[in-house]
Amino acid sequence: MYTFPHKDILSTKQFSRVDLENIFDTAWEMEKYLSWAKKWKPLEWYIMASMFYEPSTRTRLSFETAMLKLWGWVITVSEKWNSSLSKWETIEDNAKIISIYADIIVMRHPEAYSVEKTANATTKPVINAWDWPHQHPTQALLDMYTILKEKGRLDNLKITIVWDLKYGRTTHSLVFLLWLFDDIEFTFISPLELMMPEKVTDFLKSKNIKYKEISNYKKWICWADVLYVTRIQKERFTDLSEYGRIKDNYILDLETLWDNKDITIMHPLPRVNEVKEEVTNLPNTAFFRQAENWVPIRMALLYLLIWK
Ligand code: CP
Repeated sequence: MYTFPHKDILSTKQFSRVDLENIFDTAWEMEKYLSWAKKWKPLEWYIMASMFYEPSTRTRLSFETAMLKLWGWVITVSEKWNSSLSKWETIEDNAKIISIYADIIVMRHPEAYSVEKTANATTKPVINAWDWPHQHPTQALLDMYTILKEKGRLDNLKITIVWDLKYGRTTHSLVFLLWLFDDIEFTFISPLELMMPEKVTDFLKSKNIKYKEISNYKKWICWADVLYVTRIQKERFTDLSEYGRIKDNYILDLETLWDNKDITIMHPLPRVNEVKEEVTNLPNTAFFRQAENWVPIRMALLYLLIWK
């Protein structure tokens, strides 16, 4: 029998293929549970601390919804200035105090490895909801779950990831999970300024996973089973004129897509102008079906971490 082997969820690199299969099976059970009469109350009396020190709509609200759907409770801090971290309390002391009140901690923070420090300071489970320059593992899990539901498989896939591959960290986390499956091939399309970082491409080389990098995208963009689009992250540019030069040259429209009706188009959201509305309305565009998967995946993670 499988037992979830992890205390925390900090990085996509911690998972095996068996872990992923069990997380997705549990998420599927959660989807069924959401449509029942709600007699099962697995997390009744458990408290989740929702600590978001960087802005979030989807991750925070879907975690909080997931906990409430499992009959747990939520306590929250939504701004650094609103917590004692603004009075120079250490991450470690902060973690020890929060874990006196809460049974599980979900945390987003603007420093890499800050969530790991929190996890090391407490015996309670901790989930990384994005330590910004590092990883967004739960986004990658729900992206994988979406691919599984849309395509019916996770092996033998061509995945094209486009636009902001430098700052769009969800793409790095996704690559670090997908390589676990067989016959995966990546195409990375971006402006030269926003190419996939070497830490990702070096990782793929070390695992012998095929990938190619392209900046002139018109010919190649549809050569895929899944097209994963990202927003060009204006807030990360120190030189806004560079952002201005790039943003209007990388937009997905119907002409770019030619006529590939089998391609599944995904986006982690939020989006700005990188995809035309004519694409959003296609039946194979899965942005909002992808968003529906946020709650069951996060229910599965909360349940597995507390009940393992
Ligand atoms: N995709 C994502 O992490 O969205 P939020 O920033 O709104 O949580």
